[in-house]
Amino acid sequence: MGRAGTAAPLLAAFLAGASCAIAADLGEKLAPCLACHGAEGQSELDNVPSLGAQPAPYTVIQLFMFREKMRVADPMNEMAKDLGDSELQSVADFIAKQPAPRPPSDTGDSVRLERARALTEQSHCNVCHRPDFSGRENVPRLADQREDYLLKTLRDYKSGARRGYDASMAEVLQPIDDAQFIEFAYYLARLR
Ligand code: HEC
Ligand code: HEC
Repeated sequence: MGRAGTAAPLLAAFLAGASCAIAADLGEKLAPCLACHGAEGQSELDNVPSLGAQPAPYTVIQLFMFREKMRVADPMNEMAKDLGDSELQSVADFIAKQPAPRPPSDTGDSVRLERARALTEQSHCNVCHRPDFSGRENVPRLADQREDYLLKTLRDYKSGARRGYDASMAEVLQPIDDAQFIEFAYYLARLR
């Protein structure tokens, strides 16, 4: 967890414009976040999502939902509990400016990737999440997200364990089976 220390220059740059009191407070709040989620946008921990380059409106909504226990997940309900409304926005703005996660060095099986790409088109995933899966507004970035987290969260939408801000994902995934979730996660985690 010592990695959090490496976020200091990024944090300092981001907070340069803010007043000292606010900056110190936000920096203190972000340090534990980055210890889990990775200091440079990329998570190294199982089932912990990478946050880099995530659109700010999506992050604001998710932090709000964690805070209000509309999205129930350890440890995020506890972590978001004390974030005020203006902090949701400043944390989301910081996250949006972190570097996007990188694809793994393993390029993957090209036949399997091509099949999965076609499946994402059939299901219109690329329409809402954008053709390069960088997301926009309240639709999250998926490109090079961790494979384990992608699979877990698709299963959570389908089972109802994860409630979305709107019903889009529950509806989209309703006719799709688990074997396809495994392919989506494989593909999205390896986008180049
Ligand atoms: C102990 C590890 C840990 C800490 C500390 C932590 N998180 Fe998380 N965070 C997680 C996990 C695990 C999830 C995924 C929850 C799930 O499966 O739905 C998550 C999810 C998120 C998400 C949703 C991402 C998405 O793609 O939907 C955001 C945003 C987020 N965290 C921001 C933060 C912020 C801001 C803080 C600090 C205030 C923080 N996290 C602290 C582990 C952590
Ligand atoms: C109608 C638009 C729409 C379509 C089509 C769509 N999505 Fe989504 N997706 C969303 C929205 C909106 C969210 C955020 C929902 C929430 O609040 O949890 C989301 C969230 C997600 C997440 C959660 C990401 C994270 O960081 O937690 C994953 C994974 C995902 N979508 C995968 C897919 C896949 C795979 C497909 C194709 C089968 C797809 N989506 C099709 C709109 C869409």
